[in-house]
Amino acid sequence: MIEMRSIKKVYNTGKVKFEALRGIDVEVKDNEFIAIFGPSGSGKSTLMNLMGCLDTPSEGEYNIEGRSVARLNANQLAEVRNSKIGFVFQAFNLLPYATAYENVELPLLYAGLKGKERKERVVELLSRVGLADKMANKPTEMSGGEMQRTAIARALANKPKLILADEPTGNLDTKSGGEIIKIFEELWNNGHTVVIITHDMNIAGRCQRVIKLKDGLLDNNGNGSGPA
Ligand SMILES: Nc1ncnc2c1ncn2[C@@H]1O[C@H](COP(=O)(O)OP(=O)(O)OP(=O)(O)O)[C@@H](O)[C@H]1O
Ligand SMILES: [Mg+2]
Repeated sequence: MIEMRSIKKVYNTGKVKFEALRGIDVEVKDNEFIAIFGPSGSGKSTLMNLMGCLDTPSEGEYNIEGRSVARLNANQLAEVRNSKIGFVFQAFNLLPYATAYENVELPLLYAGLKGKERKERVVELLSRVGLADKMANKPTEMSGGEMQRTAIARALANKPKLILADEPTGNLDTKSGGEIIKIFEELWNNGHTVVIITHDMNIAGRCQRVIKLKDGLLDNNGNGSGPA
């Protein structure tokens, strides 16, 4: 599903250049469940932003489901994201004044889904993450775990094949974090490809494979992947 070759990412801040990724190869197969693990600043979010077509590499090749995406423009990247990728973030990134229902409905509105069909889809998505009874709650009226489950329902709205999550349990206690990981495991069992960034060894250990990063390079016997 994902094929990255010799990927480099250089950030330019004023006159200073910083090489956040210094030449890495990553492959993710269809329906894999993968953790990206590594110290702060090692390039995990940078890698995920590239995987998610939120940004393009400075050098290297990237194919997603056989399509070359390393040199696409902003509109083309958005089209790839909308058709293939769902995102979950550490800070949930929900609309603060909108209910769980409205937060999940938004991507479906953009996608042009009409009336009854849209309503059914929102209810189905929120039920799937165990929030059928919290649909009218706003983020301030939900627990962290509930906010993250809303964010997952939103990420699933357009039926993305690939789910990318950057520290999805970073703001949660162990119990709600565990519930979130269980939802990702269910998505994996249902055929999604799931990639999560985590600092938590226990969570990494529940994934099929761990991609370890250190100082912008893969860090694991030269190939950067293996058991946790
Ligand atoms: N937009 C940017 N402009 C300049 N430098 C950046 C930018 N984004 C990230 N960096 C730098 O690139 C390096 C990697 O950052 P990245 O966010 O990928 O790390 P990370 O592994 O996700 O860390 P953390 O665990 O703290 O989230 C860091 O040194 C960071 O300062
Ligand atoms: Mg990060």
